[in-house]
Amino acid sequence: MSYEARFRVWRGDEGRGELTDYTVEVNEGEVVLDIIHRLQATQAPDLAVRWNCKAGKCGSCSAEINGMPRLLCMTRMSTFEPDEVVTVTPVRTFPVIRDLVTDVSFNYEKARQIPAFDPGDTKPGEFRMQQVDVERSQEFRKCIECFLCNNVCHVIRDHEENKPEFAGPRFLMRIAELEMHPADEADRRNIAQEDHGLGFCNITKCCTEVCPEGIKITDNALIPMKERVVGRRYDPVVWLGSKLGIV
Ligand code: SF4
Ligand code: F3S
Ligand code: FES
Repeated sequence: MSYEARFRVWRGDEGRGELTDYTVEVNEGEVVLDIIHRLQATQAPDLAVRWNCKAGKCGSCSAEINGMPRLLCMTRMSTFEPDEVVTVTPVRTFPVIRDLVTDVSFNYEKARQIPAFDPGDTKPGEFRMQQVDVERSQEFRKCIECFLCNNVCHVIRDHEENKPEFAGPRFLMRIAELEMHPADEADRRNIAQEDHGLGFCNITKCCTEVCPEGIKITDNALIPMKERVVGRRYDPVVWLGSKLGIV
């Protein structure tokens, strides 16, 4: 079944922009990205949108649909009523380059600041991992780096001034993944708390709600990481060592 849908798409650049109305054909089985492509093909050839895989795996097509952070390629048109206006806007936490394309360099800068996996003196082949440890980090490894979690987190979504101090859930999860890896010898607790703002997270769980990979970011990464930070702070040996300046 085909029908004509009403779309409102944000058009503009870093300086200014506005919502523009379109009426556009929708066919059975289509996703929002199909409609954006049809707009480009028929009415708005200069409409900028970032995409790559159209399979929910590259993380490129992040945007906000009716105010909800979503992947354009994984949002079926059948989730909307045919007479509903579908509003598509760029993700809000990162600066707009043009139309639906934003500058997500913030995320790559944060990624670079996280110290790499540190196996200490362990040589390749010397180490065996238990399956439970493999599975724990495998969940985090499903991340497609769509940055919808970082986009939705109020710590930086509503407070630009927090960006230097806060890496966002995606990268706090990366730190947690390394901290939970039995062969990683770096102490990630201060890195998470002091360098990347774990304390800013007040467990609202919005990041978990929008993750297209269904990763339990808050329950399985952020809360356990907070518990490890607290455990370190209340460890009497650590407390004494920090007073003496040796830990
Ligand atoms: Fe996207 Fe989920 Fe990865 Fe965040 S954790 S960047 S929401 S896939
Ligand atoms: Fe932000 Fe997720 Fe914490 S949305 S406040 S990082 S639980
Ligand atoms: Fe790759 Fe949407 S185009 S995730």
